[in-house]
Amino acid sequence: MEIKQLTGGLGAEIIGADIRNAAQFAAIHEAFAEHSVIVIRAQSITPDEHLAFAERFGAINVNRFFKPVESHPRIAMVFKDRDQTKVIGEQWHTDHSYDDIPAMCSILHAIEVPQTGGDTVFASMGMAYEHLSPVMQEFVGGLRAWHSSRHAFGVAVAEAETAKDGRIGNAAAATQDALHPVVIRHPLSGRAGLYVNPDFTTRIEGLSEEESDAILQMLFRHCERPEFHCRIRWQAGDVTMWDNRATWHKAINDYPGQRRLMHRVTVEGCALDAA
Ligand code: SIN
Repeated sequence: MEIKQLTGGLGAEIIGADIRNAAQFAAIHEAFAEHSVIVIRAQSITPDEHLAFAERFGAINVNRFFKPVESHPRIAMVFKDRDQTKVIGEQWHTDHSYDDIPAMCSILHAIEVPQTGGDTVFASMGMAYEHLSPVMQEFVGGLRAWHSSRHAFGVAVAEAETAKDGRIGNAAAATQDALHPVVIRHPLSGRAGLYVNPDFTTRIEGLSEEESDAILQMLFRHCERPEFHCRIRWQAGDVTMWDNRATWHKAINDYPGQRRLMHRVTVEGCALDAA
């Protein structure tokens, strides 16, 4: 198995691995812990093998809003058809940050990819935190922020294309808000990292709306710096997994008229502590 770092700050590509092979799990786990995002190339796996790989990391967390794979309801479909214009996950986000116990990782298997485009971009929240000034680190380190699923998956988006065409649903379940530290101590590595994101973070606790918006927008712009990023160019069969406590990600919507189908499995995490 060959492991190649993708950029200076984040991500690795793994070539010559087989995620079905239990003997390779320790090396894959180690690469995941070190790089936060890993793309394991060319996996010829069934949905059951995808689930079995995820279960080596922990219990499956079934997403409440994504359309499931019909034969495997624990697998979410991330799909865009030729005539659809919106992609799921187009805005920078962290999966499940709206939950009290957010998901540890997400594992995406590329079933069908466009000929060009359809990449996924990731951002390192550890690097982003480390590049704030010490004064700002101290300020945001004392804050907590609310995260919500309501505006992204709730009744408010009933008219969105992805809700109308059934790719997301179950709006009635989008009722939860969760409060998390703005800077978390990573549960595995102990590294401090920012834990706010543009899609789901709604408000910093204790600040006025104007103050909260200003701080969040500043942090979001900071995290968009490309030196904190890596980009996965997919081939069918690739499996990419990312640590939701250490990264943001976004799907790039640049393949009009082409199809893209991914299977996503999400693994349970733990409550998050302040750094
Ligand atoms: C997601 O946001 O979970 C999906 C990312 C992608 O489709 O590239």
